[in-house]
Amino acid sequence: MSLGSPTGSGLVLGLETSCDETAAAIVRDGRTVLASSVATQHDLHAEFGGVVPEIASRAHLERILPAIRSALHEAGLRYEDLDAVAVGHRPGLIGSLLVGTSAAKGLAVGLGIPFVGVDHVHAHLASGVLDREDPSWPALGLVVSGGHTSLYRVENPVRPELLGRTIDDAVGEAFDKVATLLDLGHPGGPALESLAESGDPEAFQFPVANLGRDRLDFSFSGLKTAVRYAALGVPGKTPPALDEQRRADLAASFQAAAVRALERNLDRALRASSDLRSLVVGGGVIANRSVRSMVEAVGCEHGLEVVLPPMAWCQDNGAMIAALGARILAVDGPGGLDLAPAATSRQH
Ligand code: KG4
Ligand code: ZN
Repeated sequence: MSLGSPTGSGLVLGLETSCDETAAAIVRDGRTVLASSVATQHDLHAEFGGVVPEIASRAHLERILPAIRSALHEAGLRYEDLDAVAVGHRPGLIGSLLVGTSAAKGLAVGLGIPFVGVDHVHAHLASGVLDREDPSWPALGLVVSGGHTSLYRVENPVRPELLGRTIDDAVGEAFDKVATLLDLGHPGGPALESLAESGDPEAFQFPVANLGRDRLDFSFSGLKTAVRYAALGVPGKTPPALDEQRRADLAASFQAAAVRALERNLDRALRASSDLRSLVVGGGVIANRSVRSMVEAVGCEHGLEVVLPPMAWCQDNGAMIAALGARILAVDGPGGLDLAPAATSRQH
């Protein structure tokens, strides 16, 4: 099977509208980022403590064309210079995905160029290979985002094989919910990381779910509930005073437990397969320094090449969509214009 070498795929426009970032980027030959424009909607959703789907789709509709124009301008290109359009068409909020998918189809038809749909979670794995050579395959792939926590065996980035995933909350979602509990705003991952710096990671012994000796699935809802009880007290009892130090200790102890949960399954997966040659990680939560250093340490212990995206490619962006889109085009050819958005990721 071809590994989907994107060389020669030309200029691919990647569109991303799955959640609360409206993004467009232009990538050459599936690797070199010529331009990237990301408009976040965090300000629109902050007062609701989470993403409001209806507000998100309307904002995507207003921002998608300006994002595309901005990427073209930054790259010094015109619409006619594009060779293909890729769009994240799953998973995500359906109304939001519809905006990007419809824009991508309209451009493809109007310009007479190929169109391809990309799985957003798989694209996070591709963010590590932007502006650099591929690592040695097969890789162990980990995606840690606001919506997903998934482990893959990656022989070919076009068809990562799912090894395990969260059975309840995603790790980023747990960061966000604990951040809301500690009054840190939304999305609270970065603020929680800052607060954790002044806390003691051993002040609370929070649990790490073990779903079975060999299982590679994750669960974060028990951890989230344990933090809630530690912060607000158990029902019927007077809650402890939530002073600055206690908040910082809760943040640090939660972060340490979340990192332990990720580390345990990475280690398990690596012990189960002896032929893995690299460790590739993507998704918003890999912006967290404790998560990054844990991944580097695990990779080093197992003698693997570690591929972590630079900060700019950790959050949702169009470049990772274009990069994976170029590889899909090389392996499978263009997608049909009947492609429909889907709320879930592909389960293979
Ligand atoms: O990949 P992403 O931009 O969007 C999804 O596909 O979900 O990830 C967003 C998630 C949010 O939950 C956000 O709080 C989390 O990534 N995040 C972090 C950090 N930066 C972003 N979590 C922990 N520490 C961070 N520094
Ligand atoms: Zn994402």
